[in-house]
Formats: sequence, C-alpha cells, structure tokens
Amino acid sequence: MDRISADAETYAAPMGEVIQVRRHVDLAATEIDALQSLFDSEYLNGFGQWNPDAPYGYSPADTHVLAFRGDALVAHVGFQRRRIAVGTNDVMVAGTGGVLVDERERGTGLGRRVMRHAQKVMRDKPWVDFGFLGCRKEVVPFYESAGWVQVHATERCLSRTDQKSVVVSQGGPNLICSAQCDASEWPEGDIDLRGTPW
Ligand SMILES: CC(C)(COP(=O)(O)OP(=O)(O)OC[C@H]1O[C@@H](n2cnc3c(N)ncnc32)[C@H](O)[C@@H]1OP(=O)(O)O)[C@@H](O)C(=O)NCCC(=O)NCCS
Repeated sequence: MDRISADAETYAAPMGEVIQVRRHVDLAATEIDALQSLFDSEYLNGFGQWNPDAPYGYSPADTHVLAFRGDALVAHVGFQRRRIAVGTNDVMVAGTGGVLVDERERGTGLGRRVMRHAQKVMRDKPWVDFGFLGCRKEVVPFYESAGWVQVHATERCLSRTDQKSVVVSQGGPNLICSAQCDASEWPEGDIDLRGTPW
C-alpha cells in the first residue's frame, strides 16, 4: 500500500464495500490469489491463467484499485504510468486496464464506483496528465458513464501476443479522462503507446 496515504486511500463505500489502493509491488500474496480467482473466473476458459506481471500479454498495472465486500474481492481497476506520444507531444498517462467486476455483482453501480475511485487516485498523482484506455465498442457507454471521453486517432502499439510486432489501428475505441489536464486539452495527432496496451 502507498506508505504516505494508506489510511486516506481506504474508504468505506455504499453497501458495505471497501475500496483499497495498492501499489503492485506491495500486493500481499492473499491479494494476488484473490485477483487470480477474480480474473480466472472470467477469462480462464478463453485466455488461460491470469499472470500478474503480463496479464494476457497486456501491460501490467503498477497501481491496483480493489473493491472488497467483506473478505471477497469483487472488482478491480488497474493503471500503469507511461509516457506516450500524441502527435508531436509527450503525454503522461495512467494506462488503464484489468477493469473487471465479479459477475454476480454487476449492474449495481459497483464498476462505476471503483472506476471513479481510480480516477480520483489518478488525479491525486502529479504525474498523470490523463487517464487512457482502449476497450471493446460495446463497453464504451460504461466508461462514458464514469466521465471518460472518446478520442479519435490512429493508434500504434506493440502486439499483446508477441510484445514485438507493431499494431496500427484506427477507431479504437480509445478513451481518456481528466487528471492534471482537462480532457479538452488532449492533443491532436496519432497516438503511439510506446509499448503494449493495458
Ligand atoms: C463492464 C463492467 C466492468 C461494468 O461493471 P458494472 O458494475 O456492471 O457496471 P455499473 O453497474 O457500474 O454500470 C454503470 C453504467 O455503465 C453501464 N454499463 C455497465 N456495463 C456495461 C456494458 N457491459 N456495456 C455497456 N454499458 C454498460 C450501465 O448501464 C450503467 O449505466 P447507467 O448509469 O446509465 O445505468 C462489468 O460488466 C464487467 O466486469 N464486465 C466483464 C469485463 C469487461 O468487459 N471489462 C471491460 C473491459 S474493456
């Protein structure tokens, strides 16, 4: 857990939930096990076992936002610090991924509460210009409901399957959220993630 603000980053939320923030390097073995169970329950059949350091070939989170109901981990949002390129600008983003709510808990606003908490954590970090994520088209309304906005640009990244080949895509969807910069300040131009996506 972040040493300075351990207490400040543990909040009671509605309906007995507790949302906690952990640095990846500080995750306890029990928390890694809980994350493994949460991700495996959703993705084991299609994508194999969750790997904390290369989840399905995506970039790993360096910060985890975890929602518990009692002892049970019921939701997760992760993000990782990275300097990406947008047009001719360098932009510091919290590359966001691993957004997952336990299937039994969906549709109650939990996903949005955890995401909003993650956005608050991002805004408290002086290095985060914007949150950034890519997602499936059908999930865009979920992110928009938490204040993310779509950006339209050509995106270049490394493939999550081999971490080497370059993938160029258009139409994303890619979304950003305000942190130190307002979303309206997102620069024009192609996006280069300079690595694998999240
Ligand atoms: C997507 C997910 C995180 C949403 O969590 P949730 O707790 O069910 O969502 P919430 O109840 O907080 O919903 C908040 C809003 O988003 C909308 N929403 C929720 N899930 C959605 C989905 N899959 N597609 C589109 N909109 C969705 C809700 O309708 C709600 O809108 P409203 O305020 O207008 O009523 C959850 O369904 C999940 O874990 N899905 C499987 C993993 C996944 O797809 N993750 C995203 C990877 S990009």
